[in-house]
Amino acid sequence: MTQGGTNETRHFRTAVVPAAGLGTRFLPATKTVPKELLPVVDTPGIELVAGEAADSGASRLVIVTSEGKDGVVAHFVEDLVLESKLMASGKSHLLEKVRKAQGLIEVESVVQDEPLGLGHAVSCVESVLDDDEDAIAVLLPDDLVMPRGVLDTMARVRAKRGGSVLCAIDVPKDQVSAYGVFEVEDLPDAVNPDVLKVTGMVEKPKVEDAPSTFAAAGRYLLDRAIFDALRRITPGQGGELQLTDAIALLISEGHPVHVVVHRGSRHDLGNPGGYLRAAVDFALDSEEYGPSLREWLTQRLQQTGQ
Ligand code: G1P
Repeated sequence: MTQGGTNETRHFRTAVVPAAGLGTRFLPATKTVPKELLPVVDTPGIELVAGEAADSGASRLVIVTSEGKDGVVAHFVEDLVLESKLMASGKSHLLEKVRKAQGLIEVESVVQDEPLGLGHAVSCVESVLDDDEDAIAVLLPDDLVMPRGVLDTMARVRAKRGGSVLCAIDVPKDQVSAYGVFEVEDLPDAVNPDVLKVTGMVEKPKVEDAPSTFAAAGRYLLDRAIFDALRRITPGQGGELQLTDAIALLISEGHPVHVVVHRGSRHDLGNPGGYLRAAVDFALDSEEYGPSLREWLTQRLQQTGQ
């Protein structure tokens, strides 16, 4: 048995992390540092997502990168010079931190050579899959979905109902235009009321056109049929090949798609505002930094009269 479930329920070995974007919302920091390496307290977002993939039972992480973003994969490579320095100076707690990423999961990368969209990024992975892989997990590194475990529930739903399973969050109506949004139906036989059938999906609709307030939250368990659908879509929202459009195409052809509504918290690391919230949230929970941060924040908020 693996950490994230039995082979019967897991149904996927490969977790895909699209990380080819330019990180323009974080410029100038992302001029030289890939967005996925920015630390949430002391751990890069990509390591948090790799940990979640490993916990869910994936054995391989395929990172989709682009030119200039080699550092994202390098984060998972053993650094013998650094390790021997830490060892020589007896800094075993730091050594443990440094070694964590490389021990999590087997990491490889594929290059997306043109920024043609999330759907295109996912399609770049097909060539490295083994023939017997029926499904892949996709984790968007901008999304931190907590507590971990939604992929386990999604895998159980796929084992029961087949097809593809996505993670949804219920967002305020005025925010739907930032997301892929689901049209859903209740399942009469659902034991878990947070599992819904998806009857349609639209990328970043106008508020008045949104079919619901259930939005895609960056976790997908996709049947291999997605690759064929990705070959058949044309550029959509923003002129990009959208993963949402390939999923909508599959739904229109009768492929079963369900969502698991995640009721926990979620951070958006894709913009400085969301990233800061994630950092503060994690830091408040940290034994090392939590107490003094709490004290300082309280004083700071009093000073500004908030
Ligand atoms: C992407 C997806 C969107 C999803 C969102 C979640 O959009 O295209 O469907 O809801 O991630 O974060 P992006 O935020 O990359 O524009």
